Amino acid sequence: MVKLKKCLIGLGLWLPLWFWRQSECVMCEAELSFTLEPSDIIAVQEQPLMLHCQVDGIPPITTQWRHNGLLLTQDQHHTTFINGSLLIGHFQKTKSDGSSDEGDYECVAQNSFGLVVSRKARIQAATMADFHVQPESVHVEESGVARFQCQIHGLPEPVISWEKDSRPVDTKDERYTLLPTGVLQITGVREEDSGKFCCVAHNSAGVKHSTEALLTVSGSQSSVYKEPMILVGPENLTLTVHQTAILECIATGYPRPIVSWSRLDGRPIGVEGIQVLGTGNLMISDVGVQHSGVYVCAANKPGTRVRRTAQGRLVVQAPAEFVQPPQSIARPVGTTAIFTCQAQGEPEPQLTWLKNGQILEPGGHVKLRNNNRYSCTDVFIYTRMPRDS
Ligand SMILES: *[C@@H]1O[C@H](CO)[C@@H](O)[C@H](O)[C@H]1NC(C)=O
Ligand SMILES: *[C@@H]1O[C@H](CO)[C@@H](O)[C@H](O)[C@H]1NC(C)=O
Repeated sequence: MVKLKKCLIGLGLWLPLWFWRQSECVMCEAELSFTLEPSDIIAVQEQPLMLHCQVDGIPPITTQWRHNGLLLTQDQHHTTFINGSLLIGHFQKTKSDGSSDEGDYECVAQNSFGLVVSRKARIQAATMADFHVQPESVHVEESGVARFQCQIHGLPEPVISWEKDSRPVDTKDERYTLLPTGVLQITGVREEDSGKFCCVAHNSAGVKHSTEALLTVSGSQSSVYKEPMILVGPENLTLTVHQTAILECIATGYPRPIVSWSRLDGRPIGVEGIQVLGTGNLMISDVGVQHSGVYVCAANKPGTRVRRTAQGRLVVQAPAEFVQPPQSIARPVGTTAIFTCQAQGEPEPQLTWLKNGQILEPGGHVKLRNNNRYSCTDVFIYTRMPRDS
């Protein structure tokens, strides 16, 4: 009799690892592995949704799907194709019976050698909340700065544009800066800028208009000296690698202050991926962990050392990834088997070991060793005692 065991070890990812024969340890090729795993999707209400799963292995292979851990049955709402893909005919966030198509989906493939479980794909419905920040009316002196802001939550993140008097604002006008964060800045304000402003948010869930805000402009005593001042400084931001950081800075004063950026730790900001938007906003594309730090915006009175500063902290997080995944090993009965797994990320990832899909708790002849928290190496010692067999 051949007894097969399978070891699934992973961190979000599940790696089919090794097969064990009771009589002897044999190292086998993984007879079943995924060539395509389901990915996270933001689904649209009432639209069809397809999840993919492809497995390589010795046939016959059966593929099934689990939704929130429960095996899905074929019915009029769900179809599993011969190629492994799952079709949900009409995606519904809330069904008449109170259940939802949202949640975690995983694909389960099985042949005579064992069973493998794919990564969990998170399916969420596209949504758009109401604006939680609406633009507010402002009164600005000629040649001053006007700023409008709106904020809205949604999945996927809504794209924001602006309208003035019910027409898209002229984005070619250099005095108008639209930040992707939902901010509209107008510098060197003129009489003709006055009007009704509103922001428009759209994503796959729909389109929403904010309330209208009024910009009124009055004549100024523009030749009167005004101290440099930072109207709006950068916010503290926490981002994930590859996202774009927008650090806002608007300065006012007469003569117009010069805006510059630096890092509090004195390290250079660099040039690659760095762009200045409008008159003083800093944009960092494709952020990496090296961009984490405190950024200082300074507004200088031209030709003097008179200045004002504002600062914001940027924290860049990196998702966990394996540096060294565990390897299949074969060991004689009664000896010790050691599996090593190293992962990196910011903040440092937590490692979890699974055996046959179950979380492995240390105890008995299973030991977990975390010998160096900086290299985040975890060692799993699986000793098979002769009396166990
Ligand atoms: C699997 O088959 C279905 C139906 O023929 C098709 O729509 C789907 O795209 C296929 N999946 C892949 C990954 O090709
Ligand atoms: C940013 O974080 C610092 C602490 O790191 C805090 O003192 C400061 O008030 C925060 N700034 C904003 C705009 O929230």
